[in-house]
Amino acid sequence: MRSSGAEFEIAQLKNVIHERENRLHDYVKQALATAASEASPVTYYTRNSNDSKLGQSFDTYGSDKNQRHSYAQFYEDQLDGIESPRILEIGIGSLGQFPYAGLKPGGSLQAWRERYPTSVIVGGDIDEEAFASVSEIAFQLDQTDTDSLDVFSTQIASYGPFDLIVDDGFHDPHANILTVLSMLPLLAPNGSYVIEDVHSSLIDFWRVVLDVRKIHGTVIDMSALRPDTDDNVLVLIKGKQF
Ligand SMILES: C[S@@+](CC[C@H](N)C(=O)[O-])C[C@H]1O[C@@H](n2cnc3c(N)ncnc32)[C@H](O)[C@@H]1O
Repeated sequence: MRSSGAEFEIAQLKNVIHERENRLHDYVKQALATAASEASPVTYYTRNSNDSKLGQSFDTYGSDKNQRHSYAQFYEDQLDGIESPRILEIGIGSLGQFPYAGLKPGGSLQAWRERYPTSVIVGGDIDEEAFASVSEIAFQLDQTDTDSLDVFSTQIASYGPFDLIVDDGFHDPHANILTVLSMLPLLAPNGSYVIEDVHSSLIDFWRVVLDVRKIHGTVIDMSALRPDTDDNVLVLIKGKQF
């Protein structure tokens, strides 16, 4: 039987391995940097969100989009001039045992609603209790499952096309890519598709993906606005590019 000291060390090691920064070996990071050298450059976004109307709504309803991250002004910019944007958000908050759970269900949906009172707002989440508890239109969805994505697309199609699609669900690239491929047909011609909370270690990965898949998009690095946060990066597809 192992000593408790050894068990503690193994537990610590597991924590280190599971940190998003450490999921890519340094050689893979270097390979991605080389592969991305001729891809579109990163955009550095530095407009602060604190005073935006949307930022205040995110804070009021418990979403982390303004306080931990700094996305509100960016969204105000993307939706500027659209009075009633059609918004789809994947990942609506959950207090269950799901990846990236921990925020109360519906916080960001309430914030979108306060900022855009006449909008169509639709949500999706893996947590049945979460989507059942919110007051907006919402359905169950597992972003890692193409069958589930197909069912979800059919359920929400009549509410689109969407001016804004936000992926704030399972923040891992396999789920993000399956979701983009499934949801892009539901994006309005001038709409914006945004993948949130991209870890800084994945910037070159996303530059390569956009390039290889010939997707019109940019990686938006906002780390200067939140120096203590290591996932303050967005992938913007279509929308108002920089
Ligand atoms: C960061 S929270 C969303 C927070 C919310 N958008 C807000 O700003 O208040 C991430 C959500 O992703 C959901 N999620 C995790 N894995 C998922 C999956 N495979 N498919 C769909 N949703 C998933 C979790 O249940 C959780 O509600």
